[in-house]
Amino acid sequence: MSTTQLHSGSPNIFHRPGLAARIAGQVLHVSPTSASSSGVFLAAPRRTGKTTFMREDLAPALSEKGALVIYVDLWEDPKADPSEVIVAAIRAELSQHESALKRLAKSFGIGGAKIAGVEFSLDRIGLGKEVSLVQALSVLSDTTVQMIVLIIDEAQHAITTSAGADAMFSLKAARDELNSREHHGLRVVCTGSNRDKLAMLRNSKDQAFFGAPLVPFPSLGKEYVEWFCQHTNDLPAPLEAEVVQPLFERAGYRPEILGAAADELRFDFALEAADVTERFRSAVEAQIQVANDETLRVVRSLTPIQFAVLRVMAASGAAYAPFEAVTLAKYKQAIQQAGDDNVSVEVPAIQQALIALQEKSLIWRASRGVYAIEDSTLTDLLKERGLLENF
Ligand SMILES: Nc1ncnc2c1ncn2[C@@H]1O[C@H](COP(=O)(O)OP(=O)(O)OP(=O)(O)O)[C@@H](O)[C@H]1O
Ligand SMILES: [Mg+2]
Repeated sequence: MSTTQLHSGSPNIFHRPGLAARIAGQVLHVSPTSASSSGVFLAAPRRTGKTTFMREDLAPALSEKGALVIYVDLWEDPKADPSEVIVAAIRAELSQHESALKRLAKSFGIGGAKIAGVEFSLDRIGLGKEVSLVQALSVLSDTTVQMIVLIIDEAQHAITTSAGADAMFSLKAARDELNSREHHGLRVVCTGSNRDKLAMLRNSKDQAFFGAPLVPFPSLGKEYVEWFCQHTNDLPAPLEAEVVQPLFERAGYRPEILGAAADELRFDFALEAADVTERFRSAVEAQIQVANDETLRVVRSLTPIQFAVLRVMAASGAAYAPFEAVTLAKYKQAIQQAGDDNVSVEVPAIQQALIALQEKSLIWRASRGVYAIEDSTLTDLLKERGLLENF
């Protein structure tokens, strides 16, 4: 992979043009033996640079190859229904294309607010509206004569509401329509921080993107670490990539941990050149500790039943079935292990615990009642502490 920086890109981040070109090529070119015209799913843990890559590297690489990119972040406004966020992004793109709007206004004969000199009201586009997403995207495809790539960041959020799930189905219909010969193609790229959750969007036949490939998104590597070291030349002594690389791995490939550790050193005005490496090492360890403590702080505030549900869910992964007899027995076992005996493990108590865990953002619930741990680093932490054994 090339380390050359994109000239137009932000100088404050490390760019991965080689990786972006490869993924873009894969997304746009579909071989007859590939299922990726269904969409591609990219998964990587939290805070490892997915959004940065999608916005700063992948979107430009796709545009460079002639695609029209629409980027949607379903976490941007966690309170908004994911379907609304998707529809709003498509409307916003349409509003940039006067001729597409004219065509829509003409074929649907809809009047309304004047946008770019065209009588057309964008709120007529959407799920269950006069102009469906399929129609809107078809017109956009025909007028721009471009392949459309919709990047949905944190796509798992889409199936937390039934309207969101409907939006995914409309996108599937749009994809099938636009990939037919009359139009110019639609690709959907979904990212998410949890493999299990993302997998739910494509694992079962009743999901819109059944069978789409789910691939691990590569974490930042050695070249990023070198770039990072070059950008810490304001310290009394330079940092060596060989020293930083294993620390970056320990930090779960999270750039923020390295950044915060470097800042700690930057503001230590008494720091001697000879001590830089050692101080950096301990600062990274301290930052990892802070991040872990933050995660565990919430866990420590749980009631015995909530903690038991969390542990059993984390241990079971995708096989978790909240109310099955075997699972109930596991909750009981977890509670007993923790030294509590007089706790009810009846279904209503479990339901309440699940709601509480969701409110604390520790777990995630798909609209059809399937659960998963929100952040996989929590599962790792619990495992490290031996809290997932015997389930
Ligand atoms: N290529 C990069 N170069 C420098 N810093 C980066 C790079 N990628 C990510 N970062 C930094 O790491 C942090 C997390 O990045 P980002 O938000 O892109 O990750 P994410 O995986 O989308 O996180 P989340 O799981 O919260 O959505 C940010 O502070 C960002 O500036
Ligand atoms: Mg993100």
